Amino acid sequence: MSEKIVRNVGIIGTGSYVPEKILTNKDLENMMDTSDEWITTRTGIKERRIAREDESTSDMSYEAALKALEDAGVKPEELDLIIVASVTPDMAFPATACLIQDRLGAKKAGAFDLEAGCSGFVYGLSVGWQFVATGLYDKVLVVGAETLSRIINWDDRNTAVLFGDGAGAAVLAPVDEPGILSCELGSRGDGGELLKMEAGGSRTPASLDTVRQKKHSIYMAGNEVYKFAVRIMGEASLRVIEKAGLSKEDIDYFIPHQANIRIIDSARKRLGLPKEKVFVNLDKYGNTSSASVAIALDEAVKENKISKGDNIVLVSFGAGLTWAAIALRWIKE
Ligand code: UT7
Repeated sequence: MSEKIVRNVGIIGTGSYVPEKILTNKDLENMMDTSDEWITTRTGIKERRIAREDESTSDMSYEAALKALEDAGVKPEELDLIIVASVTPDMAFPATACLIQDRLGAKKAGAFDLEAGCSGFVYGLSVGWQFVATGLYDKVLVVGAETLSRIINWDDRNTAVLFGDGAGAAVLAPVDEPGILSCELGSRGDGGELLKMEAGGSRTPASLDTVRQKKHSIYMAGNEVYKFAVRIMGEASLRVIEKAGLSKEDIDYFIPHQANIRIIDSARKRLGLPKEKVFVNLDKYGNTSSASVAIALDEAVKENKISKGDNIVLVSFGAGLTWAAIALRWIKE
């Protein structure tokens, strides 16, 4: 793959934002028939963040974007393109990317939203990479952001305990040494029924009935998605490692989608990595879908888990069903 690339592209800045309000497993015990013990042992999640009533996906995207731009030393007016990955945009249209383009004052930037379930941020990085690699654009902002609390069915304990809100962002730019090395984008559309929000689109527009039947919230066949995730996280990671011309022994750090500690552990074992080389923050935030890898990457950077020259794998899976993985070399000091 790399011989086709015109320019080297790297992540030159990251940022993230999570709402202040914490909802713990103990809080959930008072809301539904569940237990801290069940949630912790089955998922690894202890608490998650919930957006304020007046806080939306674009608000959190904006905060994460500001931090990423500051970290990158890039001014909003330098941005050529903004991509926001989300399954919970502020509204169907205009795109959340356009809302933050205006708020940031990124006057020359094109802007669009991308939806690939929880794989959205890694999809977004892959798309942004192409624009910079070809020389068409120099500075691309990629955001992953979700307000999943707005589409949780609080009567469904199978899903309500899993998700949280937040946003993460990264700035892509041309760099001297190879940064992003390879990617894989995948889809298995025949699994679409396993994870969906059915109503509110053209197939099933909003009606009193769809509201009554809670069809504007997340439905998931958790166990089926789990089996898919366990297989695909390891496989996709191994493939991007190979495409990058590396072997699994070369991987210094692994940043997987934060859905379930058992899924992360199985991927980690497949790659033969010790726990210290794997970033985990799902205990604090739960599954934040498109924001998950974005927040994890930023926290890994800020906690000095990653050093210049490290080979890193990002991998995610989600609704679609989709998956996405990237192998990259960290280019920042
Ligand atoms: O990012 C993409 C989004 N997808 C995911 O993150 C999902 C991946 N899937 C998973 O992480 C796991 O499948 C879950 C954590 C969702 C569920 O774990 P599981 O080991 O697959 O459990 P299960 O669905 O087979 O359910 C086991 C039992 C059931 O009871 P019975 O039928 O065996 O009596 C559920 O009713 O656990 C019960 N259960 C709960 N019990 C207490 C389900 N949710 C809860 C709950 N509290 N919150």
